[in-house]
Amino acid sequence: MYSEKVMDHFTNPRNMGELPDASGVGTVGNAKCGDIMRIYLDIDDQGVIRDCKFKTFGCGAAVATSSMATELVKGKTIQEAMALTNQAVMEALDGLPPVKVHCSLLAEEAVHAALWDYAQKHGVQIPGLKPPKADIGEDGEDEEG
Ligand code: FES
Repeated sequence: MYSEKVMDHFTNPRNMGELPDASGVGTVGNAKCGDIMRIYLDIDDQGVIRDCKFKTFGCGAAVATSSMATELVKGKTIQEAMALTNQAVMEALDGLPPVKVHCSLLAEEAVHAALWDYAQKHGVQIPGLKPPKADIGEDGEDEEG
């Protein structure tokens, strides 16, 4: 039921760990399943994401989506990272079963939460960025992002 790419990123996650001197750290959770994802971003003066790591306490799909999300934002600008949707993460993984779509939403929200933390700490405005939600399950899972 899982694609080969999902299994690959689950069994061999990319960029797992933490960045002690991260420019921004974002943690989001989903109270319904109890899973938690944390993303660390290292952003340089040009607004380019130089490094990205994650820690996920959650299901296999959450591990795979966080791994893929870190791969997709690494080397990108803040604006490019802002444009990363859970849809794009899922496509890059060749899809997820419908009951696992919310896991990819956690990845999108964790990246946004880390960007929010960066913006707060560095006094910058990131157009279109909204404050992170503590629990991404609270508004339902069909929210368009
Ligand atoms: Fe909740 Fe996967 S089951 S993040």
